[in-house]
This record gives sequence, structure tokens and C-alpha cells, in this order.
Amino acid sequence: MAVQTTTYALSGQRALVTGGSRGIGRSIALGLARCGANVAVNYRGAAEAAAEVVAAIKDHDRTAVAVQADVTDPKSVDRLLDAAESAIGPIDLLVNNAGIVRRSPFLDIAKEEWDAVLHTNLDGPFLVGQAVARRMVQRGIRGRIINVASTSSKDAGLNLTHYCVSKAGVSMLTKMMALELAGHGINVNEVNPGLIETDLTRGYLQNEANRQFRLSRIPMKRIGDPEEIVGAVLFLASHDARLMTGASVYVDGGVTIW
Ligand SMILES: NC(=O)c1ccc[n+]([C@@H]2O[C@H](COP(=O)([O-])OP(=O)(O)OC[C@H]3O[C@@H](n4cnc5c(N)ncnc54)[C@H](OP(=O)(O)O)[C@@H]3O)[C@@H](O)[C@H]2O)c1
Repeated sequence: MAVQTTTYALSGQRALVTGGSRGIGRSIALGLARCGANVAVNYRGAAEAAAEVVAAIKDHDRTAVAVQADVTDPKSVDRLLDAAESAIGPIDLLVNNAGIVRRSPFLDIAKEEWDAVLHTNLDGPFLVGQAVARRMVQRGIRGRIINVASTSSKDAGLNLTHYCVSKAGVSMLTKMMALELAGHGINVNEVNPGLIETDLTRGYLQNEANRQFRLSRIPMKRIGDPEEIVGAVLFLASHDARLMTGASVYVDGGVTIW
């Protein structure tokens, strides 16, 4: 997939991307750097992948740092922000992207599995979003926050109760943050990807029956590439989106038309 061709003026922006080591977050981190932003790349375990993203950003003559942190842990989140800010300065753009999926029938979901999904996908954006927003407010930064939700925030999916509930929660979190932060000049929006081929979905999509079933539901009849999520994020990060807050942007091949 060709990288993005549209460009936005994000020079001097200091961005933090959670889960920036792989998949959609990796593409977003690189896209922001191509538009001039300096980027802190958060990861949980994939240190080598995060280092590769940082090296690619530095090739664009931007400042970048990889920061290991678990977004489910408030202390880890504080350390993440301290490390990110000491490397690139106060954050004025946050992309809450880190996420996981588990697939189990409703009747079989163990409490530990429920917790893992809800903690990562919902507590994570809450904890990082609140910590970043507090610092923005303290410093008078009129920043941007972009949550990566999913079409699963409004479409139910078999064996995905915990995932769909977590993403529906992210959508309401986006609206509440937008509502309460508007007075501080902080815009909060979300991007809702459809089915994108990444490590998150690869195992599921290797099953041909799963792939064909999902394709049959997508009007555009194809699965997306992480690069195809970047443009929406860059737009929401840009001056052109200055009047937008609390909005959901679906990038999904039409699957939510039904
Ligand atoms: N792929 C899709 O079809 C799709 C569709 C809709 C929405 N989304 C959403 O898009 C986002 C990115 O998904 P993806 O497909 O790019 O997934 P991915 O390729 O599996 O990458 C997930 C990223 O999240 C990080 N991460 C996971 N748990 C974390 C934690 N506790 N703390 C910090 N980082 C953590 C991972 O870090 P490590 O590499 O260090 O493990 C990795 O960088 C997720 O929120 C997902 O729900 C994806």
C-alpha cells in the first residue's frame, strides 16, 4: 500500500501515539512525522518494532522516542508522559490507539479475559487521555486528542462481546471528553476503522471462511491497510478540523452502511 500523499502542516507538533510500535499505530506515528510532528512512540512489549519506528521517524529529521509503558497502569502512564515530554516537550497531540482483541462466545468469556480487554481498550484511553488532558489544561495547551475506536463501537460482532463493549465505551468517552474539554480549547474526536489487516486480525483472517464472511459484509469488498487510517487521523490533528469535536469518523469500506 502506497503511503499517504496528502499532507497537513503539523510542524512542531509534539505527538504521543499509544501502541505505536505495530499496525495502525505504527502507520499513524510515521504519518504524523511525515507532516512535521515530533513523536513519542509508546509500546508495551515490542521494543524492537518501536525502535524501528523511531529510526524511520528520525530519517524524516524529526525527534522521536520509544517509551515502554502499559496503558492499563496509572503509574506506568505517568512515567510514559514524563519520558515522552522530556524527549519531545509538552504533548499537544495524543492518539489513543493501543488495543487488543480476544474472541470468545459470551458464555465462555472468563473474568480475566473480560478485564484484559476492558482494561486495555477502555481504561487505557481514559487513563492516558485524562493524564494528557490534565497537563494540557495546566499549561494552557489547546491540544488535540484522537481516540482509535472501531466499527465495533456500534456494530455487534459474534464472539466479541468484550471488544464491542470496550469500543462502545470509547465512543462515549470521546463524547464526554469532547464535552468537558471544549472549554479548555481541547478537541477530542475518534477514528473508527473497519477491518484492517494487522497482527490483531491476521490469525482470524487466515481462516478463509472468516475472511469470506467478513468480505461479504463489506460493500467495498476488501480489507483495509493500516495506511488507509492515517489520513483521517492527520485531518483531525490538523487546523482544518478546528471546528470538530466529539465526532466519529468511520474509515471502513462502507461496512457501517447496513
Ligand atoms: N485491525 C483492525 O481491524 C482494527 C479495526 C478497528 C479498530 N482497531 C483498533 O486499532 C487499534 C490498533 O490496532 P492494530 O490492529 O494496529 O493492533 P496491533 O497490530 O495488534 O497493535 C497493537 C498495538 O497496541 C499496543 N498495546 C497493546 N496493549 C498495550 C498496553 N497495555 N499498553 C501499551 N500498548 C499496548 C501494542 O504494543 P506491543 O507491540 O508492544 O505489544 C501494539 O503497538 C486498536 O485500538 C484496535 O482495537 C483495529
